[in-house]
Amino acid sequence: MKLTIVAGARPNFLKIAPLVNEIERVKKEGVNISYRLVHTGQHYDDNLSRIFFDELEIPLPHANLEAGSGSQAVQTANIMTTFEQELLNNPCDMVIVVGDVNSTLACSIVAKKLNIEVAHIEAGIRSFDMTMPEEVNRIVTDSIADYYFTPTETANENLMRSGAAASQVYYVGNIMIDSLYKFRDKLVKPPLLEDYNLDPSRCIILTLHRPHNADDPRKLHEILKTLAFCCKDHQVVFPVHPRTKKTLHQTGFSHPRLIITEPQGYLSFIYLVSKCRAVVTDSGGIQEETTVMGVPCVTLRKNTERPETVTIGTNELIGDNMELLDAAINKIFAGHWKPGGIPDLWDGKAAQRIVKALLEIDSRNNKAAAH
Ligand code: UD1
Repeated sequence: MKLTIVAGARPNFLKIAPLVNEIERVKKEGVNISYRLVHTGQHYDDNLSRIFFDELEIPLPHANLEAGSGSQAVQTANIMTTFEQELLNNPCDMVIVVGDVNSTLACSIVAKKLNIEVAHIEAGIRSFDMTMPEEVNRIVTDSIADYYFTPTETANENLMRSGAAASQVYYVGNIMIDSLYKFRDKLVKPPLLEDYNLDPSRCIILTLHRPHNADDPRKLHEILKTLAFCCKDHQVVFPVHPRTKKTLHQTGFSHPRLIITEPQGYLSFIYLVSKCRAVVTDSGGIQEETTVMGVPCVTLRKNTERPETVTIGTNELIGDNMELLDAAINKIFAGHWKPGGIPDLWDGKAAQRIVKALLEIDSRNNKAAAH
């Protein structure tokens, strides 16, 4: 079985690492499976890309399409034209895409138009908010993919409602959590803790990169001001995504309790999250990681495509209501936050289930071709 695995942006790398690892493991056992790893180049900064390959022990990609940044259409188009050539030069049996970034959408479309089967990992999740580019990416990818590897029951239900056949859906669990379990004993204490003399248990970790927060200086200013005010004797540690950096300069906001830093590598970031008092974020993946680590998470969004983090885990949505942000932080400080639990199949074994399913699909396809 010849696979092409696509990864383009930071959260993708956490999802392909366990997959590639598991493929390498079964290959050593003599299973006939190979893969070509294609980096689209959507993320290219070292601290959004290279560090994840190093830390998560992902082999160097066989190809980098160097698509880079641009508007939604420009970036998607660049990925599509370069990925088409990549697939024509390197034919495969199946393209595997992960998550919901522009690379996921672009490569699914290209593969299907070349009559290559597509499998989508993290299929079926929905925010039902069509203003998010990721929701468009999810819906389009799932409307054309052949196989769906899903993280939750809710994702299964969403897919069935949109017309997927049960035989296409493989409920495998959350592959990003495989990375968390694998590396939780290898975390790295980030130098910034010493540099700023910080006790992580007295820190709130802040991450913001969604356009509705990161592109609006007024909104960003409000969030920073509210947190600086309500964090009391805690510090707010804010690793800033390059997208948010530009807007941050425009706000002109600074405060002694606000520590601005570069985006962290995986091992340092998870170290901070595992030891901090609380996380405030608009990320999708961090809602899941905090749930698994039992860390209070306050999400600056009105909806989530990961509802289990709220119904089962430690996450609460507060939209853009700054009074709710203040109330949430006070509730955490008072020790009244919900303890949370871990959703089913977020157990570190998703990649094993995926590779097993891929091999079943391959043997079924081979039998059908022989008839
Ligand atoms: C992308 C994904 C988002 C994901 C996020 C994780 C889409 C639509 N969005 O958002 O779902 O949660 O990655 O980080 O696919 N930039 C750099 N260096 C880089 C990459 C980007 O400086 O290596 C800057 C550029 O100014 C670029 C901007 O960040 O224009 C946005 O990058 P882009 O890849 O378009 O989207 P993200 O906001 O990173």
